[in-house]
Amino acid sequence: MDRFLVEGGKKLKGTVKISGSKNACLPILVASLLTDEPFVLHRVPNLRDVRTTLKILTALGKKAQYENGTVTITADGALKNMLPYELVKQMRASFWVAGPLLARFKEAVIPLPGGCALGARPVDIHLKGFERLGAVCTTDRGNVVLSAQQLQPAKITLRFPSVGATQNLMMCAALIPGETVLENVAKEPEIDDVAAVLTKMGAEVFTDEKGRLVVRGQKALRGVEHTVVADRIESGSYMIAAAATRGDVKVDGCVPEHNSILLEYLQEAGVPLEIGPDYVHVKPYDTPLKPLRMKTAPYPGFATDLQAPWMTLMVLAQGASEIDEDIFENRFMHAPELVRMGADIVTEKSIARVNGVKQLSGAHVMASDLRGGFALLIAGLCAQGITEIERVYHIDRGYEDPEGKLNAVGAKVTRYNPDKDDF
Ligand code: UD1
Repeated sequence: MDRFLVEGGKKLKGTVKISGSKNACLPILVASLLTDEPFVLHRVPNLRDVRTTLKILTALGKKAQYENGTVTITADGALKNMLPYELVKQMRASFWVAGPLLARFKEAVIPLPGGCALGARPVDIHLKGFERLGAVCTTDRGNVVLSAQQLQPAKITLRFPSVGATQNLMMCAALIPGETVLENVAKEPEIDDVAAVLTKMGAEVFTDEKGRLVVRGQKALRGVEHTVVADRIESGSYMIAAAATRGDVKVDGCVPEHNSILLEYLQEAGVPLEIGPDYVHVKPYDTPLKPLRMKTAPYPGFATDLQAPWMTLMVLAQGASEIDEDIFENRFMHAPELVRMGADIVTEKSIARVNGVKQLSGAHVMASDLRGGFALLIAGLCAQGITEIERVYHIDRGYEDPEGKLNAVGAKVTRYNPDKDDF
């Protein structure tokens, strides 16, 4: 398994180009199941989760081709409506195929995703929504079995604005003729990108004046060509990396508005920024970083996916800061690893209390999840000496060529595999 060796103490300088959004790509690729017509998607990042999604589509009977950031999906015989557990266990987001498959077949068998490193992660909101659309949901030997005589549009209020449930339900409703209205939905920019795709496919999807998501579904949907929105979590991660190393980095090709809360926090912490139409330039500074209290929340609140990188920044602030993780119950696994590098962090339930330290020192650490892994990478960039990060495959799930992008702005990150490479 690959590891990173990070030589710390180098200030980042230069330009980082942001890739297409992983969290928009995954549901959009899945939306290809709603049609037999060709589906062409540009600015698709080369990530493990994207490759897993293409494997899922292939297992369901699609043909997928990936070249230079463009994915072309075409029909390849009859579609299947069952997914093997092998694929679901690799990526929770594979459960998102349930909505399109239910809409197309009125029947689908999808293995329950189970828990993950971040907690239990149930799918009750998805299932309640499918029931409102006319499906019967049962479980059988670890699978969710969805079936419907007929699906009908409905008014559905989500008990929590789940990103995945909003996407799953809007994809299903897009292929049910009539008007479905979803209330208390997620408002993440990735939802807008899925809505744009479904609208290009022939459904009408928009947010009304009350903030409800209206889906006017059709009997059949057509193929689409679309360019994926910039990855706001990747852009935010590189902004934090630049700020943590006190570097001078232009984070280019992003949508600054999608990071607006993070930008406010960075500025309040004392990081000078120049905010352009499609870039954020993180400027160098020599004043102490101000510790802040932060609580994660659904968009437009502070993204839970940026909580771990933000913690690394607060580790280097002068004084005591606090982080309240309000979305996932178990998302502080990076904290004990940061402590191994010299950080002073105490976690209790959803709260992490951080006392800033002057300097981190390189250590042998382990990535336990995607964003927590990137937080360790940032810590390694700032630390004195060498940091060795194990289980880089977590980082590869969601960051395209992280060592290439970091090394291009002056970092020294080497990927190696102890089973293959000599060091
Ligand atoms: C998506 C993102 C993930 C991000 C998260 C929150 C993708 C592929 N992943 O995940 O990167 O961290 O949004 O912004 O887009 N919940 C339930 N029942 C449900 C569904 C969710 O209780 O049926 C709970 C979850 O356990 C969690 C919270 O709701 O505590 C948020 O989950 P959700 O918004 O659904 O996250 P995902 O869509 O899985």
